[in-house]
Amino acid sequence: MVKLPHALSLTTLVSHLLFTLAISTRERVPTPPLPILPLPSYSQLKWQQRQIIMFLHFGVNTFTGLERGTGLEDPAIFNPVSLNTSQWVSAAVDAGISLMILTAKHHDGFCLWPSKYTDHSVESSRWKGGKGDVVREFVDAAKARGVDAGLYLSPWDRHEPRYGQNLKYNEYYLAQLQELLTKYGSMREIWFDGFKNASAVNMTYYFTEWFSMVKELQSSINIFSDAGPDVRWVGNEDGFAGTTCRATINKSSLSIGNASIEGYLNIGDPRRTDYLPAECDLSIREGWFWHKSQSPKKLSKLLQIYYKSVGRNCVLLLNVPPNTTGLVSETDVHRLKELRNALDTIFSVNLAEKCSMKASSRRGGKDGGFGPENVLDGDHLWTYWAPGDEEDAGEVDQWIEMRGTDGGLRFNVVRIQEAVGLGQRIKRHEIYVDGKKIVQGTTVGYKRLHRLKGGVVHGSVVRVRITESKGLPLISSIGLHLDPFWQPKDRKSLD
Ligand SMILES: *[C@@H]1O[C@H](CO)[C@@H](O)[C@H](O)[C@H]1NC(C)=O
Ligand SMILES: *[C@@H]1O[C@H](CO)[C@@H](O)[C@H](O)[C@H]1NC(C)=O
Ligand SMILES: *[C@@H]1O[C@H](CO)[C@@H](O)[C@H](O)[C@H]1NC(C)=O
Ligand SMILES: *[C@@H]1O[C@H](CO)[C@@H](O)[C@H](O)[C@H]1NC(C)=O
Ligand SMILES: *[C@@H]1O[C@H](CO)[C@@H](O)[C@H](O)[C@H]1NC(C)=O
Ligand SMILES: *[C@@H]1O[C@H](CO)[C@@H](O)[C@H](O)[C@H]1NC(C)=O
Repeated sequence: MVKLPHALSLTTLVSHLLFTLAISTRERVPTPPLPILPLPSYSQLKWQQRQIIMFLHFGVNTFTGLERGTGLEDPAIFNPVSLNTSQWVSAAVDAGISLMILTAKHHDGFCLWPSKYTDHSVESSRWKGGKGDVVREFVDAAKARGVDAGLYLSPWDRHEPRYGQNLKYNEYYLAQLQELLTKYGSMREIWFDGFKNASAVNMTYYFTEWFSMVKELQSSINIFSDAGPDVRWVGNEDGFAGTTCRATINKSSLSIGNASIEGYLNIGDPRRTDYLPAECDLSIREGWFWHKSQSPKKLSKLLQIYYKSVGRNCVLLLNVPPNTTGLVSETDVHRLKELRNALDTIFSVNLAEKCSMKASSRRGGKDGGFGPENVLDGDHLWTYWAPGDEEDAGEVDQWIEMRGTDGGLRFNVVRIQEAVGLGQRIKRHEIYVDGKKIVQGTTVGYKRLHRLKGGVVHGSVVRVRITESKGLPLISSIGLHLDPFWQPKDRKSLD
């Protein structure tokens, strides 16, 4: 008989036994499938889940009524007497927005912070006797409410005399970038564009140096530009992505400020070279800057934009311009709240939650952990339905089905989300209600919303079929929703 020297050994023995047991149990649990490249970065995944980001265009244009300043503005005109950046942040928080991006400098060259490299800034304005710093107040207010901050620093600068001299201007621009990225805490997104008037003086921007410096100073930041490297432009300022919209694209075919790639940016590239999801920028009003005569878009228009941006695997960057008082207009605050209420009304109830779920097959069998019920939990990334491996190749029908338990289902929106953490995969899908096809779609990605052209459908069995995908399709969430704001009159105009 084995002699146990003291009580501890018994504990050791028991835990050893338990450990062995756990190992053998664990071996029978199927592993997650391999990812399919390219994959999103940690920061890209965080960005994608935000869904809506707020843009704030603010500067001398707010006071002149121009959309594009000349660079000749007298800085004295900048005087937002009751500036309250906490009010901006409240407007964002009430709309469920977790990241705000401010125009630190627009094309007119006026800086919202006291840059030591120019006097064309708040320092020369009447506001706070030249002692103010809008960027500081903005980041402090955001931080106080747990909202993340980002910045835009226009490359095109119509004021700066160095503009047009490649070396000198690039040094100037980089110096300002360093001020913004070292003195104001953590930034989550920085926005670059190649826009300038065609007749403006020629100028080569050293984007490679700028981007390297940004990444050196801020490790978790996403860089936005036509060409990424983290977030790409969607190719228009209407807020619409392509009905096919891949997060994947070939970065080496992209360049910044090149109109000939707008169509390509809108849909992405099936050759899957790089993971570079798209952001859809547009203003809640007609202009980017506040103008007395303008008012916010209607709720129905904003919802349409949401379906065509967030509902097509993109993030919506919605501009909400502060006015000359230094506040977001009450009409805009109100419209943002309406938008949030509408989205909550539509998406907080998922009719599929009461359904019984079935699928063509499931990875690892009945208790494998990859069953269709995973699409109904609150996790939209890491728990998912995966079909069995045997379905990987060939013509096997892959589907997931929801069956109403107490009578019929009534809905007009179908939401499908892929487990994009393992790569965007689905290329084609179809939706059937009681055996009748109601939707034929292409890509899905992080989120695909189908607002049904024909309005509300009644039925008892809804089937989502994946007809083409790269490897196994992995679906992290499905929703059947009723959008009371959607009353299609003209069936051709929207989807
Ligand atoms: C600024 O806005 C916040 C949020 O709306 C508000 O609570 C605060 O009272 C305002 N501050 C001033 C000075 O008006
Ligand atoms: C471009 O610049 C020219 C000359 O400065 C000006 O006449 C024209 O209005 C500008 N166009 C735009 C779109 O800003
Ligand atoms: C910019 O450079 C291009 C090509 O070098 C030239 O055709 C164009 O006239 C230049 N534009 C200006 C405003 O100097
Ligand atoms: C614009 O993009 C097209 C397509 O990738 C490319 O052929 C062209 O060289 C680009 N132009 C510039 C100025 O980068
Ligand atoms: C990506 O684009 C570059 C430049 O246009 C091209 O040489 C390369 O073949 C493309 N890669 C793929 C996978 O298509
Ligand atoms: C700016 O918006 C605030 C909040 O709605 C409002 O009180 C103020 O009058 C507005 N300023 C102008 C110039 O419209």
